[in-house]
Amino acid sequence: MVLPLWKWVNSIYALLIIAALLPMAIFAGVTLYVSLHKEQQVFKNELSAKARIFASLVNTELKEQIKIAAVFAAVPVFDPPVNIEDVAARADRVLKHQPLYLSVSLFDERMTRIYSSSPHPENPITPESVQEALLSGKAVIGAITRGPDGWGIPIRAPVIRNSKVVYVLSPVIGTEALNDVLMDIKIPAGWIGTVIDRDGSIVARNRAIHEWIGQSVSPAALEAFNRGGGIFYGQTKEGFDTIGALEIAPDFGWAVIIGLPLSIYNQPLDETRNFVVASAIITVILTTTFIILLAKEIKSRHAQAAALEQKFRLEFLGELTGRAAHDFNNLLTVIMGNVGKLEKATTSPRLDAIRGAAERGELANDLLSFSRGSAAELIDVELNEHLQRLVSSFPERFPTNITISFDLEKVNPLGLFLKVDPVQFDLAVLNIMINSCDAMSSGGRIDVITRKKQEWITLTIRDTGTGIPKEILPRIFDPFFTTKGANGTGFGLSQVYGFVKQADGTISVESNETGTAMTMRFPAVEKSYRKNAA
Ligand SMILES: Nc1ncnc2c1ncn2[C@@H]1O[C@H](COP(=O)(O)OP(=O)(O)OP(=O)(O)O)[C@@H](O)[C@H]1O
Ligand SMILES: [Mg+2]
Repeated sequence: MVLPLWKWVNSIYALLIIAALLPMAIFAGVTLYVSLHKEQQVFKNELSAKARIFASLVNTELKEQIKIAAVFAAVPVFDPPVNIEDVAARADRVLKHQPLYLSVSLFDERMTRIYSSSPHPENPITPESVQEALLSGKAVIGAITRGPDGWGIPIRAPVIRNSKVVYVLSPVIGTEALNDVLMDIKIPAGWIGTVIDRDGSIVARNRAIHEWIGQSVSPAALEAFNRGGGIFYGQTKEGFDTIGALEIAPDFGWAVIIGLPLSIYNQPLDETRNFVVASAIITVILTTTFIILLAKEIKSRHAQAAALEQKFRLEFLGELTGRAAHDFNNLLTVIMGNVGKLEKATTSPRLDAIRGAAERGELANDLLSFSRGSAAELIDVELNEHLQRLVSSFPERFPTNITISFDLEKVNPLGLFLKVDPVQFDLAVLNIMINSCDAMSSGGRIDVITRKKQEWITLTIRDTGTGIPKEILPRIFDPFFTTKGANGTGFGLSQVYGFVKQADGTISVESNETGTAMTMRFPAVEKSYRKNAA
């Protein structure tokens, strides 16, 4: 299948645009992907690193508290059987020295609270950790609980005497210690740090702790907790989308979470995407503009080349026809000379016919005027007046069903003067007008329009005829080119072309199916005009 020329040319430009843009798009895409991936990896690494540091700090803090509780459990006051008054006095003193302690309780082997510094029930609020301390003989940290003194973390320190756990001493510490740790690791603005106990309840948080303390952490975080930690995507208690890193404190099964709102995490992505979109738009505009300009340039070069070719062709033909006409005229002169001699000797109607035919040699004259071989007599002609006179002196040339109207530039007192050969001028105008008449066999209208623009004068002859088909347009000025068969010689427009060139002018044609306009453009002659001047 062969594409029409314009489609082929357009698909070439489309290919050019794609060829220019595709490598750039791929390059931009890959670069963007790699850089964003790197950037986000940096964020993830930072999250994990912060979570690790935070977890180890929490671990250390809890260990510290356990150590203090173990030292406390070793004091002789807890040697069995205990004296509750002594225990109370000791506990009072410790509470004064340990500002983090909310309360101190003592449980016996049956997990009954035998002493408490504040009004607690007899049974422990979270008995599992008391039992664990009793059975393992090791100090453990209980789940966060809400006691009479508010939220606290119970430490269960076994009181061991003779390798046997005799009591469990349980100081309850406030959560401030962990909040202080959170402050220490300096979480960037907008990030969220959370400490959870081993049940997944929130113990400390750098944001709105009073609202969320003791509550279960978000389901996505719980899942990461059960998985043993790592990076996860979820929502904070407040409902923001986040990416989080969860790290488990090794000795206690507690965990810390560092959360980064996705709006911050994706910010570089958004910024880069906007940047890439803006650059892509600019690139597309620039490339398309460039290619449109290139296409225009190529088209105008094509047109120039075509015009140049036409010019060469006509010049060549002009030269050829000039020579032919010259020879022909010489032949006619010889014939005329001999006819003259013969006429002196004899009379014959045949001789008259020969003379008549030789004198008419119109074709030779046409050829000459095309080739500019005829001796042109250039004079200043006032266009408006001349045109009107010309048209009115050939009324029989124009069919009655054709209206001729004038639209003439008003230039009085200055005339529209051209320097032309008046005979050639008349011929040219008539040739164009006759063509118009031929194209309007069933009647129509011819407008004769003159205009002056700076130093140029234009004469347009416009008809309402059939128009000139596009495919023959480049050939209409060629000598012998006619579509009228035996009714045309094809010399009309070649005469026009020769004349316009002789007058240093140009000619242009506009034509479509509603008619044709031929515009001749001549250099104006600056001359004042006196009507009816001699
Ligand atoms: N106004 C017009 N409307 C339509 N076709 C035109 C017009 N002017 C010229 N043409 C076309 O251009 C061709 C060449 O015109 P040109 O005047 O050179 O030759 P011609 O009119 O065919 O013959 P000739 O003028 O020698 O009798 C014409 O045959 C015609 O097809
Ligand atoms: Mg003609």
